[in-house]
Amino acid sequence: MKGIVLAGGSGTRLYPITKVYSKQLTVIYDKPLIYYPVSILMLGGIKDILIVSNKETIPMYQTLFGDGSHLGVNIRYVLQSAPNGIAESFILGEQFIGNDPVSLILGDNIFYGQLDFFYNALKRSSGATIFGYRVNDPDRYGVVEFDKSGKAISIEEKPKYPKSNFAVPGLYVYDNSVVEISKNIKPSPRGELEITDVNNTYLNAGTLQVEKIGRGVAWLDTGTPEALLQASNFFGVIEDRQGLKVACLEEIAYLMNFINKEQFEQTINAIPRSAYRTYLERILNEE
Ligand code: TTP
Repeated sequence: MKGIVLAGGSGTRLYPITKVYSKQLTVIYDKPLIYYPVSILMLGGIKDILIVSNKETIPMYQTLFGDGSHLGVNIRYVLQSAPNGIAESFILGEQFIGNDPVSLILGDNIFYGQLDFFYNALKRSSGATIFGYRVNDPDRYGVVEFDKSGKAISIEEKPKYPKSNFAVPGLYVYDNSVVEISKNIKPSPRGELEITDVNNTYLNAGTLQVEKIGRGVAWLDTGTPEALLQASNFFGVIEDRQGLKVACLEEIAYLMNFINKEQFEQTINAIPRSAYRTYLERILNEE
């Protein structure tokens, strides 16, 4: 399974912050936003990760993550010359994906809680799995309509009159046919290759699973100043209460056995003296 983080975009709703740097580098409590989606792929056991972004931001991600070897993963980068839509990531990532299935996460999407919904999707060998999450404001998202038996029957992108409260979060798991499907869809009236069109292709072929995510899981997206503050407060509360960090990539790499104790120590030694480093030293010594 390959993993893609789509982390370009224009971030217009966060202007003027995004006039100078990418939304995905804004801070959520104690770390850059992009750590959170990367952590989800790593927790899913995905070690081959492609970051799709623009030419200004790729060098910054390279500074953050390098080739990923200190985390025991392989991180590559590919340029999206303009925000041409979420589905373009499969075209840009064709070589990287090869013959494998692929999971895509949007660089501004955060999940927190029991992630079985994702782990189960990763085990399926064919078709596509997307998720449905109840929100207050479904009209901002792709919206899934379910029939009485709970089967998904339609997905509409940003509908004026949503047919349910279930939005489609920015986390998707596809078999390899997603590459060909993405090449065959046409840009929408807003000029984007829409992920909803990809999902509808699977839906029409009868190969789309839409799994509802329960209310015990937090799905946050961080497109607006209010949402950034809410997410920072949320993780501030959790981390302070537990004394454990969320989306701490070095810790996850160690706990997932992507790196051994010696490599973990080396990774820690490269981090400047900081609360972050002290935390990792504690994790190392607690084992
Ligand atoms: P959006 O929230 O749809 O758009 P945006 O980030 O450009 O922000 P705004 O609406 O305020 O202008 O994007 C969701 C995520 O996907 C975000 O992390 C950016 C990323 N993205 C791309 O990298 N390329 C794209 O072509 C699109 C549509 C989104």
